[in-house]
Amino acid sequence: MVLCVVVFGMCVWGRPATFVQDFRVTWSASHIRQIDQGTTIQLILDQNSGCGFASAKKYMFGRVSMKIKLIPGDSAGTVTAFYMNSDTDSIRDELDFEFLGNRSGQPYTVQTNIYARGKGDREQRVNLWFDPAADFHTYTILWNHHHVVYYVDEVPIRVYKNNEGKGVAYPKTQAMGVYSTLWEADDWATRGGLEKIDWRRAPFYAYYKDFDIEGCEVPGDGACASNPGNWWEGSAYEALNAVEARRYAWVRMNHMIYDYCKDKSRYPLAPPECLLGV
Ligand SMILES: *[C@@H]1O[C@H](CO)[C@@H](O)[C@H](O)[C@H]1NC(C)=O
Repeated sequence: MVLCVVVFGMCVWGRPATFVQDFRVTWSASHIRQIDQGTTIQLILDQNSGCGFASAKKYMFGRVSMKIKLIPGDSAGTVTAFYMNSDTDSIRDELDFEFLGNRSGQPYTVQTNIYARGKGDREQRVNLWFDPAADFHTYTILWNHHHVVYYVDEVPIRVYKNNEGKGVAYPKTQAMGVYSTLWEADDWATRGGLEKIDWRRAPFYAYYKDFDIEGCEVPGDGACASNPGNWWEGSAYEALNAVEARRYAWVRMNHMIYDYCKDKSRYPLAPPECLLGV
């Protein structure tokens, strides 16, 4: 189904994405399976390989969401990722969700990062308040001219405001693709690399479904990205609403375990965006 809403004479499109039409395998097709009549994608990690897939197209601004069910039980040393990336080496823009596995019964950690104009090193970590392997949950990246917001279900866990006016880089000149990968990173992922992957439990499985990408396709209508009529640029999306702001404060208060803004050993002087408020 394609929804074309005509705004100011331009077509603003949005539709649920399907794996076959909108994505391609980027790494190890043998480790990616379509199940449930192609509605769900199973990613497999074993001692031979991890795997990955990416959107066939790139997008400029918009909202991307997926439902993901992470590796159950002992997932220490594994990383499942969902991110947007401009795929440009030197001046990369990237918006990351990385799910760091843990020993059974310990909370999964979600690490987020933001690269703007080639500069990253903006990690934050949140321990999830539910078991993300018991059920599918929705993970969303909203990206417009005002801010980037990362959501876990309806809860904002990270906001990166456009503070360009104050000299802080903001991703807004390069389109980004949508990527997902499952791989082994037991040299750093769990408790700083102390907890190793237990290969006796392999293969490990993560599941993805209900892909939803709404944004300006690139290449495509060149005027789309700057069209103020795009719904994701609307006044309701310029800042968190009161309910979202409350939820965001709750996450920061109760579930945030690491914030680069507060890491004095890395940044004796907090980076400028940290001083401009969240
Ligand atoms: C794993 O669990 C430990 C203990 O609860 C916690 O400190 C840590 O943040 C969790 N996440 C990772 C990725 O190590």
